[in-house]
Amino acid sequence: MQDIDVKSLVDLAVSAAHEAGALARDRRRAVERMAVAATKSTPTDVVTESDTAAEQLIRDRLLAVRPGDAIHGEEGGHSAGDSDVVWVVDPIDGTVNYLYGIPQYAVSIAAQVDATVEAGVVYNPASDETWTAVRGSGALLNGEPIAVTGCADLSLALVGTGFGYDAGRRARQAAVLAELVPVVRDIRRAGSAALDLCAVASGRLDAYYERGLNPWDRAAGGLIAAEAGAVVSGLYGQPPAEAMTFAATPGIAEDLRALLERLGADRV
Ligand code: IPD
Repeated sequence: MQDIDVKSLVDLAVSAAHEAGALARDRRRAVERMAVAATKSTPTDVVTESDTAAEQLIRDRLLAVRPGDAIHGEEGGHSAGDSDVVWVVDPIDGTVNYLYGIPQYAVSIAAQVDATVEAGVVYNPASDETWTAVRGSGALLNGEPIAVTGCADLSLALVGTGFGYDAGRRARQAAVLAELVPVVRDIRRAGSAALDLCAVASGRLDAYYERGLNPWDRAAGGLIAAEAGAVVSGLYGQPPAEAMTFAATPGIAEDLRALLERLGADRV
């Protein structure tokens, strides 16, 4: 790894995330006013436009300070660089919540150095909450240290999950969930993978799992959860990936992971 000041990457990502989050939030408020005035604009247009505008803003801010970095974004795809840093960006994670005006969406920005996520920032503009982590330095919420819960019994665990957009996969995910519901305290489907991972980090969930996440959904939140003490992995000894992103407080991680493996939760 080049001599990179990871803390400065976090600071840059926080300022870009705050600016992009404010843009998304303001556009969302504008659409609410438009809806009241019954104009022709639809919320769907605003989602698409906000996504694109927020990602462009993030790209501009990151490249203004670090012009040699690569960026891998949900909306704009991959732009190559010549440094060791790749930024992994989701301008609005929780798009459907954003569409409906549910205040559970986030800007997610991770800095990968030599293919390892070294820094992560997740910002919820609606609640004005900012999660940050630097690999090896713990996780923070609005600057204060956070940690996972001490849950040690699967039957008492509050477990988050999510569903992909493909109908066949959703049916399979629902079947897995049907097996899980009777053996845990309860289930949450909050609609933003980045915030779900941060919820595990903050003790608002005991665990979270989902099949089918993209790198921009999980990169920042995965590091934040791990730095807060969560076990973050895939199934069968794999690292978190598209097949499965799993994050749990250590006291239930083994039991929940074994159950998900038994249920084939990483199969379509
Ligand atoms: C989605 C959200 C959702 C998860 C989906 C993701 P998007 O990301 O994180 O919670 O269940 O799998 O695709 O589309 O809102 O950026």
